[in-house]
Amino acid sequence: MAEKFGDYRGSFKCASSVPPEEAKELHEPIGVDLHNVHQHDAVIVGAGLAGEYAALELKRAGHDVAVLTKIFPTRSHSTAAQGGIAAALANLEEDHIEWHFFDTVKGSDFLADQDAAELMCREAPLIVYEYEHMGVPFSRTPEGKIMQRYFGGHVKDFGKGQKVLRACMAADRTGHALLHCLWEQCVKLGVRFYAEFLVLDLIVRDDKCLGVVAWDLINGGLHIFHAKATLFATGGYARLYNISTNSRANTADGLAILMDNGYPIEDLEFVQFHPTGLAGKGFLITEGARGEGGYLINDKGERFMEKYAPSKMELAPRDIISRAEWQEIMEGRGIGGEEYIYLDLRHLGAEKIKERLPQIRELSMKFAGVDPIDAPIPIQPTAHYSMGGIPTDINCRVLADGKEKWLEGMWAAGECACVSVHGANRLGTNSLLDASVHGKRAGKDMAAYLDVVECWEPLPMDCAVRAKEEIEWLLTHEGTETPGSIREEMQVNMYRKCGVFRNEKELVEMYDIIKDLQKRYRNIRIDDKGVKFNLDLEEAIELRHLLQTAEVIVASAINRTESRGAHWRTDHPKRDDENWLKHTLAWRTEEGVKFDYKPVVITRFLPEERKY
Ligand code: FUM
Repeated sequence: MAEKFGDYRGSFKCASSVPPEEAKELHEPIGVDLHNVHQHDAVIVGAGLAGEYAALELKRAGHDVAVLTKIFPTRSHSTAAQGGIAAALANLEEDHIEWHFFDTVKGSDFLADQDAAELMCREAPLIVYEYEHMGVPFSRTPEGKIMQRYFGGHVKDFGKGQKVLRACMAADRTGHALLHCLWEQCVKLGVRFYAEFLVLDLIVRDDKCLGVVAWDLINGGLHIFHAKATLFATGGYARLYNISTNSRANTADGLAILMDNGYPIEDLEFVQFHPTGLAGKGFLITEGARGEGGYLINDKGERFMEKYAPSKMELAPRDIISRAEWQEIMEGRGIGGEEYIYLDLRHLGAEKIKERLPQIRELSMKFAGVDPIDAPIPIQPTAHYSMGGIPTDINCRVLADGKEKWLEGMWAAGECACVSVHGANRLGTNSLLDASVHGKRAGKDMAAYLDVVECWEPLPMDCAVRAKEEIEWLLTHEGTETPGSIREEMQVNMYRKCGVFRNEKELVEMYDIIKDLQKRYRNIRIDDKGVKFNLDLEEAIELRHLLQTAEVIVASAINRTESRGAHWRTDHPKRDDENWLKHTLAWRTEEGVKFDYKPVVITRFLPEERKY
């Protein structure tokens, strides 16, 4: 097995590197085989859009960069994003960067930091044109411009007008098209990829990051990646829900590792539920389907969004539509009284569905037995995206105290990071944008840092100890619990008790469930005791990351006694700007989750009631 996979690793320059002779004294003796110690200017963890964009910028600037990923790079979750990437290109009708900026802030329920949100919207057209020049196969208007479609919450005239065509699209495979293009560029420039390496720990001394410790999934063995600059682009965590759009890889690794090292995480209570996940499974059925004109229908055949967002209907933001769907379901108007409603595309006609929504047609046919040309698709809210994450400044530098102090040598970008551009609720198509803009910004900032930092600092002697102990414990511990049963209990309960609607009673129950599952985790056993391609081992490590992150999500949700964006408390149904117009910073400690806060950056748009 190792030899077979070794071939493709070799062909993409994924083989181990031997550190330069002169660096030997920096590495011995740290308890890891010298051949498993790699030295690079920059190490990036994660090969989605943020990671690969950063790699490209670093390589363009002439730096030696390695990208670690626990899966094959083109399988990264960015490929799953379907509907589009937002940019006010105004290709088909009037649009302005300021309108996009306003929509992003309003969509965030006024929790986004406005300096960061404005910057992202300003850089949006530039990044889309750069993608175009790199060769992304965007869908085209009859004149040959990039095609744009409608998406929820994107409107004209500072929220006063009607929907606007802003989502730049490649049919319903936009993320796939962008990531494959970036991958080609990275390969062309010779970025070094270490595929199927699972990062286990950060190497930190005196609030300075010196690289990471990783497990070679294929061959087994701990590896050290010694870097002057390290970027986490590790993605989200929605696999801690049973109904989720996320790939199996989205297990909060980056967040958990930061928390293991005593650093805070920001705004984790804000979990986005996408309104249209395939019923019972959660697979993404793009919002682009509603952008093209799809309707949401309850058991009585009503377009129920009329009651909840009369002016925007199916193109209201996701938090509002997810709550509307769940309300319909709770009041017995799910289809046949079940936990799903319908997305009806039949009136769009076969030609449009085949041209603009081919992937969701295929998904519906394969996984629900429904051809949307002839029948409505059964859908339900599905865990989709993390608005919170690792606190960073606008150059993606990780903040050791969550506020100002840089964890030197460390950056974070994409879904694992919280800049914060999405606040309490993200607009659709702003995630591909965020990952691209901030991946690029991180890469540029890292390159500038590397221009002035000449040496690798010596590694701490004990840098691999914690990772080694974790692996040894998992491979030898003979408990009675299986990771699978703990994971399932966590996922099912998170969807029920920390989902679209929340209240203190259920959140506290959920917190107790997590503490109990963490206790049970100490009594697990994995069946595979080998080191090569041990998925039992990998899943057990990922489960620990998920449980830790779930603990902080739920504690933060209990703590925030208001409703804002995706965090909706039925026992505190109003937004409370007086007490809660602020970001949560949460530390996971032995004594439980500890909180601090920081103000929201407001530059232009004062908070107002959020109506659609
Ligand atoms: O619905 C979608 O196509 C998802 C896009 C997004 O989350 O930005």
